[in-house]
Amino acid sequence: MADQNLMEKIVSLAKRRGFVFPGSEIYGGLAGIYDFGPRGVELLNNIKKSWWKANVYDKDNYYGLDSGMFKHPRVWEASGHVGGFADPLAECRNCHARIRVDKELAKIGVAADEKMSEDQINALFDQHRDEIACPVCGKKDFTRARAFNLLVKSNLGDFTSEGAEPVYLPGEACQGIYLDYKNIVDSMSPKIPFGVAQIGKAFRNEISPRNFLFRTREFEQADTQLFIRPNENKEPYEAIKEDRMAWYRSLGISEKKLRFKQHENLVFYAKDAWDIEYEFPGGFDEVEGIHDRSDYDLSQHMKFSGVDLNYTDPETGEKYIPWILETSMGMGRVFLAVLCDAYHEDEMGGETRVVLKLAPHLAPVKAMVSPLLRNKPELVEKAREVFAELKKVVPQIAWDDNGNIGKRYRRQDEIGTPFCVTIDFDTLGETPERKDTVTLRHRDSGEQERLTLEEVKKRLTDAIS
Ligand code: GAP
Repeated sequence: MADQNLMEKIVSLAKRRGFVFPGSEIYGGLAGIYDFGPRGVELLNNIKKSWWKANVYDKDNYYGLDSGMFKHPRVWEASGHVGGFADPLAECRNCHARIRVDKELAKIGVAADEKMSEDQINALFDQHRDEIACPVCGKKDFTRARAFNLLVKSNLGDFTSEGAEPVYLPGEACQGIYLDYKNIVDSMSPKIPFGVAQIGKAFRNEISPRNFLFRTREFEQADTQLFIRPNENKEPYEAIKEDRMAWYRSLGISEKKLRFKQHENLVFYAKDAWDIEYEFPGGFDEVEGIHDRSDYDLSQHMKFSGVDLNYTDPETGEKYIPWILETSMGMGRVFLAVLCDAYHEDEMGGETRVVLKLAPHLAPVKAMVSPLLRNKPELVEKAREVFAELKKVVPQIAWDDNGNIGKRYRRQDEIGTPFCVTIDFDTLGETPERKDTVTLRHRDSGEQERLTLEEVKKRLTDAIS
């Protein structure tokens, strides 16, 4: 990555301040697996809430779903994943490290991707072998690239220990939506066009998990599938693209760091595909795919299951297989984009500070309450009262009375807390006209204002709504 230093700072902050921990760390870690810590899970949930609101509550023709992770083994044959969901892998003959050939080619500026055939990718690889060194031992001696299937297997329900028919973990979360499409039609009687939204886990045996949360082996996808009439795809596809881009802006992400990119080489299920990309420290990369899947999914499941998945128009009686427009976002990638975008180092009070300029509705802690001095019981008692009152309105309120007030502010800046509320002697009535007022400090400017508790409540609720 070009700005590896910035990425390293973000990874370090994420661990130090309880956002993201390496999975199974006390055992030396497990590649491509991460845990969200106490602050991370709050930020993650806030992103999910915002996505759910935008894709279910703010729409009048979208339904929520939470389908089971495990699916009948035939599902992944029908979907095309058993046969065609693979990345090109080559092994270093010297140290046996594995590389993803399309990614290594892309790094030296050669256009390549995982959708190319084995022969196509090997032809390119052979032309550029002397430019690609093993990331572990530095040698340039690799095997031929072979297609490596990314599906992760389980032995769920198999007591034979032969593993003859594995039950796969989901390679993409959206399959649950196709499997429940008929149930939704039967139970909710939706009229086409209608959509289904779901946040679900996906697992991929990634050859080289990389860049922190960007490419992991376990991750969450937030998907919407819009069921439409055949051939009526152009207009809604454009509308969906705009709608999704607007959502990223609503997270407070800088507009200039977002862009669309159309796929030249299409994945097996897509008729058209665009990515929304964010400019990470190493450059632009995909956070979400927007795919025109036509009737591929329902036709395949109809063929493999033998169940009629035609939609019958309630007014005309016309029968057809709906086409599908999909949006599929990686939750971890958006979490990472939000962190990268919010990370700033600036000068305040003559010192350099690290500050996460998170949008208030995403911040894990909305406000920190503290007494100016922790050794003055009357200040602590009043501050505890204010803390309890604010918590009734906004639950994500923190208490901090450790160290001096400047240090407390810096700690909150680093985790992106938009407001700090301080109780001082004026609150107790030392200056009579200020009795029962507190100071409200703003994270980004460091400015402070004197407000009543009612005014503070309003500021908080306005900022996070
Ligand atoms: N249902 C369509 C689908 O799965 P995809 O482009 O393979 O399409 C959609 O994945 C999104 O899932 C990507 O845009 C990305 O944000 C996220 N994603 C894919 N692989 C990932 C991985 N290994 N780690 C983290 N996120 C991943």
